[in-house]
Amino acid sequence: MTDQRIAVVVLAAGQGTRMKSATPKVLHRLAGLPLLAHVLRTAAALEPEHIAVVVRHERDRVAAEVVERAPDALVVDQDDVPGTGRAVEVAVQALPTDFEGAVVVLSGDVPLLDVDSLRALVGSHTSGGNGATFVSAIAPDPTGLGRVVRDADGSFVGVVEHKDATPDQLSITETNAGIYAFDVTHLRAVLPLLTTANAQGEKYITDAPALIGARGGRIDVVTLTDPWLVAGINDRAQLADAARELNARIVRRHQVAGVTVQDPATTWIDADVTIEPDAEILPNTQLVGATAIAAGAVVGPDTTLRDTEVGAGAHVSRTDATLAVVGDGATVGPFAYLRPGTILGERGKIGTFVETKNAEIGRGSKVPHLSYIGDTVVGEDSNIGANTITANYDGVAKHRTEVGSNVRTGSHNVFVAPVRIGDGAYTGAGTTVRKDVPAGSLAISYAPQRNTDGWVEEHRPGTPAAEAARRAHGEHI
Ligand code: UD1
Ligand code: CA
Repeated sequence: MTDQRIAVVVLAAGQGTRMKSATPKVLHRLAGLPLLAHVLRTAAALEPEHIAVVVRHERDRVAAEVVERAPDALVVDQDDVPGTGRAVEVAVQALPTDFEGAVVVLSGDVPLLDVDSLRALVGSHTSGGNGATFVSAIAPDPTGLGRVVRDADGSFVGVVEHKDATPDQLSITETNAGIYAFDVTHLRAVLPLLTTANAQGEKYITDAPALIGARGGRIDVVTLTDPWLVAGINDRAQLADAARELNARIVRRHQVAGVTVQDPATTWIDADVTIEPDAEILPNTQLVGATAIAAGAVVGPDTTLRDTEVGAGAHVSRTDATLAVVGDGATVGPFAYLRPGTILGERGKIGTFVETKNAEIGRGSKVPHLSYIGDTVVGEDSNIGANTITANYDGVAKHRTEVGSNVRTGSHNVFVAPVRIGDGAYTGAGTTVRKDVPAGSLAISYAPQRNTDGWVEEHRPGTPAAEAARRAHGEHI
């Protein structure tokens, strides 16, 4: 790289009409991040002196995203003059007047551009001493895109927008990617010359290279061979296509780093997910947000983890989890629902048809079957019997349940919070624990069972049950 001074301008003021959405286009998500966040990351990786983001449509929502993702960026408001040319104009006006160097223009709706390609663009712009350098790509279907017009020698003539193109120009497959490096002096000179005299009545930034050429600037076109890097997102179909492609690249990155992904086609991994080597991801799994999977863990099949940590060697199968922590060597599922605040200790177990929320389940403790455990702390090496419910809500407030270590509770218990079950305590099957259970005690709450002999034959005569009872009595009496 040279010591070229760089300002990056990100265009994010457009409405994104073709998305047909109440959400601004650049806030639609790809691999867990808004389109704009992908572009801002790439921009930041260039380490420019300035980043200016141009906003207008839904400006507050877009500006909030900019402030969150790139706090140092300048948010620049575009006025009522429409078009990418006007957007660049207001951004350049917002830069310090003494700024010298390259203005790199990126579109907020071209999310897959990587920083290596961008560095190559700036590198060839600088080394060539160019007035403008921009990226082109060969598109099998160039519909809607600007075309790069060249003369008989192949020299650059200009960019023509799809809606302004002649039938001959429409057959050109070399398209403008919307990614530019401009010498700021040339750019400042030609921006006032842009007009809205075109099919869309907009100021086009695409007119700038030809104007810079006309005042003696050198124009260079860098053609990228990977069309995905410059794919623009204009509608939901393109969004889904780009999401599939980015996902394939993310999956491949993890595979190369030592992660087994059995079925890339049904595995969705967000951009910021981390996975250590020798983890195994089984089919139909979505790893969302800041999810982190440690070495040797097995996740899936049919699992969705959001912002969830899975420890080394843990197994998580057919599970839906949000903001949960699964300890090393622990097992979860199949068919578990881990809600926020679930923390399962090392070698612990949250088993089948179990829902947990705000529950710390200590090292080696198990909730194996058919239970709801909420607002609860369980100590170490305790076992919660099948079909246990923490009754944590009295209709007004939530209350906590505390279960100690080495506790054994029976099946079909209700823990009516607030309540404590001390270390080493036992409870019998069917117990409704309304009072604290001291350490080492056995708690049993039950109505004694009463058997009324002969009731079925007397009250349900002629039924199959009565017949069965009669036969049983015949055999046994
Ligand atoms: C643009 C290019 C086209 C190129 C294509 C590549 C122009 C005139 N055309 O077309 O040559 O092939 O990108 O993807 O530049 N924006 C603003 N202010 C506006 C209008 C748009 O900031 O007034 C922003 C949008 O939010 C978007 C970007 O500029 O992020 C591109 O705008 P869009 O309308 O998508 O341009 P395209 O029609 O795709
Ligand atoms: Ca576009």
